[in-house]
Amino acid sequence: MLNRRDFLQRGALGATALLVAPKIGWTTTANSRVADSRIEVLFDEPLGIISPNIYGHFVENLSGVLYDGIWVGEKSPVPNIDGLRKSLIEHMRKIKATVIRFPGGCFADSYDWRDGIGPAEKRPRRTNFWVNGESEKAPPSHRYDPNAVGTNEFVHFCKLIGAEPYLAANVRSLPASAFQQWVEYCNSPAGSTTLADARAAAGYAEPFRVKYWGVGNESWGCGGEFTPQEYAVEFRRYSTWLPTYGDNLNLIASGPNTDDWNWTREFLTEVLRKGPGGLHRIYGMALHHYAWNLSRGKTKEWVAGKGDALKFDPVDWYELLREGERMENLVTGHWQVLSEFDREHRVKLVVDEWGPWYRPGSEATPGDQLEQMPTLRDAVFSGMTLDIFNRHPEKVAMANCAQLINCLNSLYLAQEDKFVITPVGHIFELYASHQGGQSLRTIFSSPNLHYDRDGQSAAFWGLRGSASLRDKNLTITAVNPSTSEPRLAEIALKGASIKEASMNFLSNADIHAHNTFDQREVVVPQTKRLSATEGNFVVEFLPASVVALNIQLN
Ligand code: AHR
Repeated sequence: MLNRRDFLQRGALGATALLVAPKIGWTTTANSRVADSRIEVLFDEPLGIISPNIYGHFVENLSGVLYDGIWVGEKSPVPNIDGLRKSLIEHMRKIKATVIRFPGGCFADSYDWRDGIGPAEKRPRRTNFWVNGESEKAPPSHRYDPNAVGTNEFVHFCKLIGAEPYLAANVRSLPASAFQQWVEYCNSPAGSTTLADARAAAGYAEPFRVKYWGVGNESWGCGGEFTPQEYAVEFRRYSTWLPTYGDNLNLIASGPNTDDWNWTREFLTEVLRKGPGGLHRIYGMALHHYAWNLSRGKTKEWVAGKGDALKFDPVDWYELLREGERMENLVTGHWQVLSEFDREHRVKLVVDEWGPWYRPGSEATPGDQLEQMPTLRDAVFSGMTLDIFNRHPEKVAMANCAQLINCLNSLYLAQEDKFVITPVGHIFELYASHQGGQSLRTIFSSPNLHYDRDGQSAAFWGLRGSASLRDKNLTITAVNPSTSEPRLAEIALKGASIKEASMNFLSNADIHAHNTFDQREVVVPQTKRLSATEGNFVVEFLPASVVALNIQLN
């Protein structure tokens, strides 16, 4: 039986969404319809500041993610900035991308950062971690890493966007000294070390000041097949006496796969064996969760359990959301385990890989390994997941959607001069205003929906989301997961006076709707101005929709 660990080892809208009428009550009719749901924002129950880094991304040197997706080369006819795809940079600026993780994923524990510095023509070609899964027809760069993109190019990409780099160090196949020297290359002051001189020779005299560092990746699997105790020993060794050059290094420990509570518990037990100081070295505990098993409980087998990205029925839609919704329990569960060791909760959760994972076959670029076609279903999934993170601001310090382009839950697809923003990419647009906002406890009341699950009736919640306030700007995002039923919700903002309000939403009459290179605007955000002035009004949430209400308060 193949599981994910083994696998990695081997290598037009219907009715427009409307503000119906201002200032009406819970059961009052609007356009002759009764509000069936209610969203009440509790302004006096702040939950904490939403870390902008929850809106983070993940880029691995894997198939078409890096080569073609991000890097096209300086001499390419594809519009680029210093070899980096221009349209991608422009949209990432628009969504205010905050942090980007690189170079993996599993690739990270096979990567030697020293191969990716110095003059490009002198850099070695190396076998990519993912080579076994590449087809013979794949571009050579997908099998044999040309190292055209190394630390300089990646950090430059981040700086062009205005994002922070988050680098994952190799614990499986490089010594701790290589990690220490990578930090030195990136962060030692101009003129201070030989590596600072090497950086300056490449045109980067000033230190990169990289703050976020992963100590390995999935160390329970492709990152070394460690036990939690073994990994904890490695973590202590790799994190001891790293040079900081005046800035804090935020070290992220390789965390559990989904609900492996034991990993978190055993890792922390061992880290603390040498004393409480061990905790001070950990900024974040990574957590990975992919929603892949759409078998409705029939199998746990990695290949057989997967569903199709494009061919699915409503039951598969709900099963995916059900798998994704587990994230809330994973966040609270691992947080609970952390509290056994860290009562003050210095260590936060870093969900640095999340998203749906389908079987191969829907990729826009044939041969792009792990690439899949994101649909409206994935947009709803992503909105739901971001809302979960927003509701736990004190726990989740960072999250990275897997992966940015030409891969799993991608925001973008690209092939040579073709580029398209997927429905997932548009979700990040809709949710950007939550970044840095004060998360507010919000009560979503809505009837459950019911669907047929192999002859049994299954239930799922009817409307859920999150709310945040930054200055006088209130953002409420919510998901209507029903494939067929709209929700009419009263928005209750007790005591609030509204200057102006609008809503952006993503939906489509076809739950399979997606954007392709030829039809790039099938699923795009729509905007509606709302005429609300006081704290209670009613909004319709279309079936299968994600809605962002942007309300400016007086
Ligand atoms: O995102 C694809 C792979 O999934 C990553 O390389 C690995 O960390 C995870 O298992």
